Amino acid sequence: MLDQPAISVPQAPTLAEGALARALSGCHLIGGRLVPSRSGATFPVVNPATGEQVGTAALGDAADVAAAVDNAAAAQPAWARMASRKRGALVVQCAALIRGHVEELARLIALETGKALRTESRVEAQNVADILEFFGGLGGELKGETVPFAPDVLSVTVREPLGVVGAIIPWNVPMLLMALKIAPALVAGNTVVVKSAEEAPLAVLRICELMNRVLPPGCFNMLSGFGPECGAPLVVHPLVRKVTFTGSVEVGKIVARAASDKLIPVTLELGGKSPMIVFADCDFERTVTGAVTSMRFTRQGQSCTAASRIYVERPIFDRFVAALADRVDAMVMGDPLDEKTDIGTVISRDQFAKVQGFIDEGRATAGVGVLACSRIPDDPGLKKGLFIQPHIFTNLPASSRLVQQEIFGPVTCVFPFDDAEAVLAEANDSEYGLAASLWTNNLRIGLDLAHRLQAGLVQINQNLVVQANLSYGGVKSSGLGKEASLEAMLEHFTHKKTIMVNYG
Ligand code: NAI
Ligand code: MG
Repeated sequence: MLDQPAISVPQAPTLAEGALARALSGCHLIGGRLVPSRSGATFPVVNPATGEQVGTAALGDAADVAAAVDNAAAAQPAWARMASRKRGALVVQCAALIRGHVEELARLIALETGKALRTESRVEAQNVADILEFFGGLGGELKGETVPFAPDVLSVTVREPLGVVGAIIPWNVPMLLMALKIAPALVAGNTVVVKSAEEAPLAVLRICELMNRVLPPGCFNMLSGFGPECGAPLVVHPLVRKVTFTGSVEVGKIVARAASDKLIPVTLELGGKSPMIVFADCDFERTVTGAVTSMRFTRQGQSCTAASRIYVERPIFDRFVAALADRVDAMVMGDPLDEKTDIGTVISRDQFAKVQGFIDEGRATAGVGVLACSRIPDDPGLKKGLFIQPHIFTNLPASSRLVQQEIFGPVTCVFPFDDAEAVLAEANDSEYGLAASLWTNNLRIGLDLAHRLQAGLVQINQNLVVQANLSYGGVKSSGLGKEASLEAMLEHFTHKKTIMVNYG
């Protein structure tokens, strides 16, 4: 099928992340094999903590897309005919293989994204195995219904796969966000072509390579490359029958337009500007800890669910801001691969400039309060590292760009409030509606607001990251469709066919 030479990589788990990055360099994975791009072109993969190039990725274009989709389409009928529980069992087997490689994957993702090993990267790798295990266990749940129609007619529905699924993923939690797409797609009998994010192509490629040791060739293919040159041709390819995308609102709309032209379904997981609402009766220390995790400070705030608007009831406002700043101040920024590090770097020079632009604008706003926390590491080896101090702003006007737009960096805005109705209105005054959290011991207020907040996910007295089995996805500009649950697999990766038998 393919004329390029296959490339080999270490089989056993390895903790030598630099050597693994080099071994995976310059490859797509098409039809079960690691292969270079047709053009032979590559682009650099950079460690954001040092500025050093750690490897390369294959520069994909429409020719590579065509090869990957052809392979996925060729593999799909046999994959779909396999018993769904058998498909699930293979995905569970992939989960077990990945569990054996958690440490390796954690180090590799830390290397290419700058996310701290202990607080972020290892957790993400474990979560991938959890998600594959969860969906793998759902093979038997691809059930249909019997429909009462007429006495001599047996009418049933069956769940059928859609065909080839195109998945476009971002760089912030690439392994986890990819798992949420490929696991349900594969278990439902689709085959997939993933387009990785240009900033983080290697750890996801390793996962694809590991899973290809278990899955039949062609079921799970991966391309690296840039959005317009590699992502766009994947969306428009006629054999791609479903697209699932996570990334910016701007590109989400481009993807949705292209999908609508082909009349194929699309799932979009886009940005957020998630509110956290803190009442004076909350458990104070738990809530301060909750604000640190909600804002995803350990990930430099690079999360679509980051609590980037924190509303605190006035009697505890000053104490809360001070306690939050103290807590963040005590966090250690440093080498992502060091176990002592709490906070690593942001992903790229572009994101660094974008976040810094927001911070500069916030600082220049009249009357604001600003607390810059933690310290930029002084290790000479990290002097080119893309470290940004976490910033806590107070007294920003609601019209500020920092309050309205997704910053995707370690920047949160804290506001006092006096009244539950007013804070609900403020929280809902956003183009986004992804996630929200409420912190109170008053169940009546908590549940009342939970029902009226415009968000896909509302948590009271906790703010966990996405978990298998919990429906996840936004309203308003935050997206279209849900992920992570059994229902998401059924609704977004299958269609319902009716079969009728007249035995009268
Ligand atoms: P992006 O939306 O440009 O990139 C996400 C993915 O889409 C990447 O794989 C990219 O190659 C691909 N892509 C870009 N243009 C495309 C096109 N025309 N057709 C098909 N695929 C295309 O996001 P980017 O530039 O990495 O980040 C910009 C902002 O987006 C961030 O600052 C953040 O606000 C938001 N974002 C939100 C994420 C989320 O989890 N919802 C994840 C990443 C970014
Ligand atoms: Mg972009």
